[in-house]
Amino acid sequence: MLERACFDYIMVEDKLSVSEAYGGSSEIYLKQALGMVPKHDPAPLAALMSAATTRLGIVITMSTLGYPPFLLARLSSTLDHISRGRFGWNIVTSAENAAAQNFGFDELPPRELRYDMAHEYMDLVYKLWDSWDRDAIVMDREKGIYADYKKVRPIDFRGKFFKCRGPLNTAPSPQGRPVFVQAGGSPKGRDFAAKHAESIITLADGLEGMKWYRNDIRERAKAHGRNPDDIKVLFLVIPTLAETHEEALAKKERLVSSQAFIEQTLGLISAITDIDFSKFELDSPLPHLTTQGEQGSLDKFQQWGSGKTLRQLIYESSEFESSIELLGTPDSVADRMGEIIEETGGDGFLITTHNQATSRRQVLEVTEGLVPALQRRGLVRTVYEHPTLRETLREF
Ligand SMILES: Cc1cc2nc3c(=O)[nH]c(=O)nc-3n(C[C@H](O)[C@H](O)[C@H](O)COP(=O)(O)O)c2cc1C
Repeated sequence: MLERACFDYIMVEDKLSVSEAYGGSSEIYLKQALGMVPKHDPAPLAALMSAATTRLGIVITMSTLGYPPFLLARLSSTLDHISRGRFGWNIVTSAENAAAQNFGFDELPPRELRYDMAHEYMDLVYKLWDSWDRDAIVMDREKGIYADYKKVRPIDFRGKFFKCRGPLNTAPSPQGRPVFVQAGGSPKGRDFAAKHAESIITLADGLEGMKWYRNDIRERAKAHGRNPDDIKVLFLVIPTLAETHEEALAKKERLVSSQAFIEQTLGLISAITDIDFSKFELDSPLPHLTTQGEQGSLDKFQQWGSGKTLRQLIYESSEFESSIELLGTPDSVADRMGEIIEETGGDGFLITTHNQATSRRQVLEVTEGLVPALQRRGLVRTVYEHPTLRETLREF
């Protein structure tokens, strides 16, 4: 469905632990299949999705904390071959103690250190992907030569955190390396994204937040000697679509007034911030909270200084995973999306759904309702022009 609608890419999120953030227990997550439980390894899924599509970009999340660099470079190269140049990697550093403990750490390294490690990780994997010259493969049957061994070299990488001999033992993939996607929110995270990412996915706070974020990234990219136009910033949004504006409002109201929504919101925000929200009173304001996890999401949720109670915040949080409200008919939402991009100078949107409640119906509302409305306005493509994800992204 996404490929028929000519999406740039699908992004598969991932976590590496079963959360116990809410109430110090895994109960809510397992009972309601919430907070990214269950989560199967996205790499085989990427292979299957590649086989079922021909043009859609396929981006999966892999953590620099979880995957040894050599394994990640090899897996990415393999998936780029299988997808014939449509593979992308959402680079995350993991923000949960439990995830760190699944990989032999006693506790989660602090965010700054995780990004220092991730920078070194990137230096290493770039070298692995470059350990074969593009023309190393000769394939000369007459002379009996597969590859020119002088064009494939060890990297002998010795860093502060990682060591690796190299070379990579996979042949160079169609894109050479995956398309890098990232979602840095903190200053270190934004700097990492500006240095490496080719597409950034972010939860911004309204129009001003969107403008601010995109400008910040573009300035940082220039400082790294990059062309900022090579970085496509996509804003996370949750559109509520219906046949009339009133129906869309009623649909949202039904969702946010249910008891399940309160529980799920608390469970989810606990999981992504590693803060136990069960300890706060529903009818009192929250203390000021900070996290090693998704600070941007937390700030948007807690509306610090507003004096609102937790119950009010939950009620309003149907928007906390959306950079800006998008609600109405496919045509009115398409108009609004056009205006937003015009005003922010932005590149596009990453569309998601509430509390992981993604259903075929919701996908259909977007691919058969919203996208045709955007296409009629000439705002998105109607055919893919290029075979690889990197080229598809550079097209606009
Ligand atoms: C749209 C979006 C998707 C994300 N997906 C994941 C994910 O799948 N797994 C994960 O561990 N972190 C994910 N993150 C967290 C980011 O990688 C990042 O840590 C977060 O935005 C906070 O930024 P910071 O690391 O600079 O503090 C996501 C963030 C956003 C905004």
